[in-house]
Amino acid sequence: MKKRYTITAALPYANGPLHIGHLAGAYIAADIYARFLRLQNHDVCFVSGSDEHGAAITIKAMRENTTPQAIVDKYHHIIKKSFEDFGIEFDIYHRTTAPIHYDTSQEFFLELLDKNAFEVIESEQYYDETAHQFLADRYIIGTCPNCGNENAYGDQCEKCGSSLSPTELIRPKSTISGDTPILKKTKHWYLKLNEQEAWLKQWLNNEDKKDWKAHVLGQCNAWLDNGLQPRAMTRDLDWGIPVPLEDAKNKVLYVWLDAPIGYISATKDWANANGKDWKDYWQNDKTELVHFIGKDNIVFHCIIFPSILHTTDNYIVPTNVPANAFMNLEGNKISTSKNWAVWLHEYLEEFPNKQDELRYVLIANMPENKDSEFTWQDFQDKVNNELVATYGNFVNRIISLINKYYDGNIDYQLQKSMAENDSILKTTIDATLKNIENYILKFKFKDALNELMSFAREGNKFLAETEPWKLYTKNPDKTKDILSIGLDWVYALGVLSQPLLPFTAKKIFALLNTEIPNNLDCYHYTIKNNKINKATLLFEKIEDSQIEFQIEKLKNTLATTEINTVAPPKENIAYEDFDKLDIRTGKIVSAKKVEKADKLLELLVDVGFEQRTIVSGIAEHFSADEIVGQEVAVLVNLAPKKLRGIMSNGMILMAEDENGKLVFVNAKNISSGNIIR
Ligand code: 2FM
Ligand code: ZN
Repeated sequence: MKKRYTITAALPYANGPLHIGHLAGAYIAADIYARFLRLQNHDVCFVSGSDEHGAAITIKAMRENTTPQAIVDKYHHIIKKSFEDFGIEFDIYHRTTAPIHYDTSQEFFLELLDKNAFEVIESEQYYDETAHQFLADRYIIGTCPNCGNENAYGDQCEKCGSSLSPTELIRPKSTISGDTPILKKTKHWYLKLNEQEAWLKQWLNNEDKKDWKAHVLGQCNAWLDNGLQPRAMTRDLDWGIPVPLEDAKNKVLYVWLDAPIGYISATKDWANANGKDWKDYWQNDKTELVHFIGKDNIVFHCIIFPSILHTTDNYIVPTNVPANAFMNLEGNKISTSKNWAVWLHEYLEEFPNKQDELRYVLIANMPENKDSEFTWQDFQDKVNNELVATYGNFVNRIISLINKYYDGNIDYQLQKSMAENDSILKTTIDATLKNIENYILKFKFKDALNELMSFAREGNKFLAETEPWKLYTKNPDKTKDILSIGLDWVYALGVLSQPLLPFTAKKIFALLNTEIPNNLDCYHYTIKNNKINKATLLFEKIEDSQIEFQIEKLKNTLATTEINTVAPPKENIAYEDFDKLDIRTGKIVSAKKVEKADKLLELLVDVGFEQRTIVSGIAEHFSADEIVGQEVAVLVNLAPKKLRGIMSNGMILMAEDENGKLVFVNAKNISSGNIIR
C-alpha cells in the first residue's frame, strides 16, 4: 500500500564544510531510507537545509573579521555541493535564512504564546560591557570546574566532556572583548516542558516504540526520569530570527524554535514548487514522520520538538527518530575546529569518482547504536577485499565473458526471464530483496549492506561452480544459459544496489546498456540493441601510497593542532628583559625561494633605517609573489645567523591561526622603522 513519508535530516550548521562524520551520522542513513521508499513508489518528501543561525556562526564571523551572512553564504553552497556530490538526494535542501522560514518560525512562536506554552522568566546572565551585549554560552570561556581546563566553554568543556552552565566557569572571560563579563538581568520565554511530561512519558513508552533504538529511548527516559524543567526558547543575540514581540528587542529564537522548523519551511517551499500541499506531510496522521539525526540531538527531536508540534494545532509527531551515534577518526573524536576530519570535498579531490567507496565503508561502519571508527587502513581493506575482490570481480567476469564469447550479444530477448525460471537465482533474489527491505525499514543499514554483499558473493560462487569458461568449447548453449543467468544476476545486483550504492548501480545499468529503473523489479529489463557494453572496472584497488598519504596528512594535523592548543604562559620576565627587544615596523621589498629548502623564503625587508636580508620559514604558507609589499613586525636586534648559506639578519613576527596557518603580525599603515613595544 502506498504511504506518505516525511523524512528529515538534521540541518548542519553553515559554519564549515562537511566531513565523513556528517555522512555517517545522519545523511547516508536518511538517503538510503528515502531512496528505498521512493523505489517502492511511496510518496516521499526528504528535506534538510543549512542551519544558518546560532553562536557558532557569529563566532566564526567574528574570528574571520567578516559578517555572519558572508559565512553562511559561503558554507551553504559548499555543503549543498558536497551533498549533491555524494548522492544525498534531498527533495529540497533549504536554508534557515529564507524568508518563509522566518515567517514559519515566528508563527510557531506566536502560536505557542497563544496556547500559553511559555513562561517568561527573568534571570541574571553574563553581559559584556565593552561589546554591549549578552553573551551566548559559547562566547564565554573560563576554567572548567571539573578538570581545570582553562579553555572550557560556557556550555561545555571539550576536554572532559562535561556540560556546563556559564556561571559554573571559574574566571569567565568574554571571547568578544576578553573582559570579565558582569551578571545582568534579562528575560526569556521558557517552554513549560514540565507541562509536557505526562503525554511524553506515555507517548515514549507506547507499544509502537519497541521499533525505536534502545539508545534513543534510553536517553529520553533518563531525561523524563529526572523531571522536565522549563527551557528558554529565546536568546539575546543580534543574529537570528527576531522574537516577534514589541518587548523582545535584540532577542532571537533559540535553535530549538528555529532549526527543526526549517524542516517545515523547506517542505512548504518544495510543495509550492511541485504543486503539492505541505500540510499532507506535516498534518496528516497517516503520514510517517522520520527524523535522522546524530545522538547529540536526541532530546531535541524526541522531547523538545515533539512538545512544540504537540502544542500547536494539527501537527503530527515523529514515527521514529533513528539517531546514530558518532563516528571517530583514527582513534580520535572528529573535530572541525581541530581539523581532525576527512573533509568530503578533499576526499573527492583525492579519490575522484569514488563516492560509493566511501559510502560503502561508512555504511559498513555506521554508528547505528554506538560510536564507531573510521581508519584509512580499514577503508583500503574494505575497498580492496570486498568491493574490488567480490562485487567488482563478479560483475566484471560476467560482462567480460559475454563480450568474449558472444561479442556482447546473448540473444537477450530469447533468454529473457532466465532469472524467473532459474530457481536458485529466483530464490536468492527474492530472499535478498525481502531481507534488504526488512533491514532498511528497521534502520539496520549495515545488515542491508551485508545482504547485498552476500548476493554478490553468491554470484561468484555460482560462477565458480558452473565454470562457464571451461564449458564454452564443449557446450556453447549451456554456456549461454549460464551467462544469461549471470547477466540477470548482475542486473538484480544493480537494482538492489540502488539505495545503498547509487553510483555503482548506475554504472551497472550503463554496462548492461539498459534503462535506470525506478523500482525494485529485479526481473524485467531490456537491453538496447541486444548488446551490452564492454567491461570497465567498477572499482579499483586503493594503493598503499594513497593510504600512507592520508595518514601522513592526519599526522601533520595533529602536529599543528598540538602546537596550536593555547600554550601555557611562560615564566614572568623583568621589564629590562623586554626592553632588550628592538621590534620595528617594516615592509617586505622583495622575496624569493631559497633553493632546495621547502620552507624558506629569502626576504629583503625595509626596516626604516636600512633594507636587510631576512630568511624566514614561511614558504609553505606564502608564495614569494604574494607577500611583496606586506607590512610586518621585525625583531631587528636578533643576532645574525647563517641559514642555508644566507646571512639572516632579524626575524619576522608571525602568529598561527587555529588551523595552523601562519599570519603576519603587523601594525598597519605605519611607516617602516617605528618602534613596537
Ligand atoms: O546541532 C546542530 O547541528 C544544529 N544545526 C541543529 C540540527 S537539528 C535540527 F536541524 F533540528
Ligand atoms: Zn573539563
